[in-house]
Amino acid sequence: MKQFISVNDVADIRALVDQALLYKAQPFLDRQLGADKRIGLLFLNPSLRTRLSTQVAASNLGMEAVVFNVDKEGWALEFEEGAIMSGNTVEHIKDAAPILGQYFDILCIRTFPSLKNRDDDYSEMYISQFIKYAGVPVVSLESATLHPLQSLTDLVTITEYRKEQKHTHKPKIVLTWAPHVKPLPQCVANSFSQWINAWGEADFVITHPADYELAEQFTKGATITHNQEEALKEADFVYVKNWSTYNDYGKIYENDPSWMLTEEKLKESNQARVMHCLPVRRNVELSDEILDGPNSLVTRQAGNRVWAAQAVLSAMLKHR
Ligand code: CP
Repeated sequence: MKQFISVNDVADIRALVDQALLYKAQPFLDRQLGADKRIGLLFLNPSLRTRLSTQVAASNLGMEAVVFNVDKEGWALEFEEGAIMSGNTVEHIKDAAPILGQYFDILCIRTFPSLKNRDDDYSEMYISQFIKYAGVPVVSLESATLHPLQSLTDLVTITEYRKEQKHTHKPKIVLTWAPHVKPLPQCVANSFSQWINAWGEADFVITHPADYELAEQFTKGATITHNQEEALKEADFVYVKNWSTYNDYGKIYENDPSWMLTEEKLKESNQARVMHCLPVRRNVELSDEILDGPNSLVTRQAGNRVWAAQAVLSAMLKHR
């Protein structure tokens, strides 16, 4: 694997999921693979799970990980081609990225969207510039539109749970919009949709209020409905996530609390297991009763972040 920006970089999704589960069983299986290799983790935005799980994954492979909070500790980066840098930005990505490429064997980057200019965000300007100028493999730790390490983790968690339960039927997976107090990126929802569609082994339903349509490039193939109650019927897995509007970009139109998932709403599901990428706003996005109850997979999901990251880093190290 030369880069990990979306599901399109993955030749065999099932093999990557199996590799992650193998690492969960045997964390130090490939202890020597990353010996004398260094990975740089650059954060332009906050993180708990992505930052720590990727560090642990790198360590399990014998790599040295260096974390750099660019937003707090680095020079303000300029990404615009031909910019006259008389404002607040101090260093152009053209100058910074090739240097980072000399320091690290693999470069990982987290950037969020502005949620102001859809064309800029959906052009993935930031991560594309790192790829263009760094000269080493780049891993997305969440970009403007996608969060592939999260989605791989989600698929690992679904696969693991189904194996444990010896489920053989085609699962019904529902992605449901949830209320939130501020506008959030569409990344997790886009990415989850893209991965579940590419995986192709589920009946996939997306439910959200009117006007919260996601970009069709990611959702195509899914059934989309504004009727949450109908969507949840017979569901095996329910993925809960807020996102801001895509069409009238980056807005909150409504925060109808009735969209929050509760135990009551799951009564007609197939004893659905509930997923969320975290962090979660309790009793806004998801009720305490679900998060603290037996049907929640969220802690397992977050734990599986290590194995998903380890499978991706391993595939990159083997490619070199
Ligand atoms: N789910 C996720 O990416 O968590 P962090 O933002 O804490 O990394």
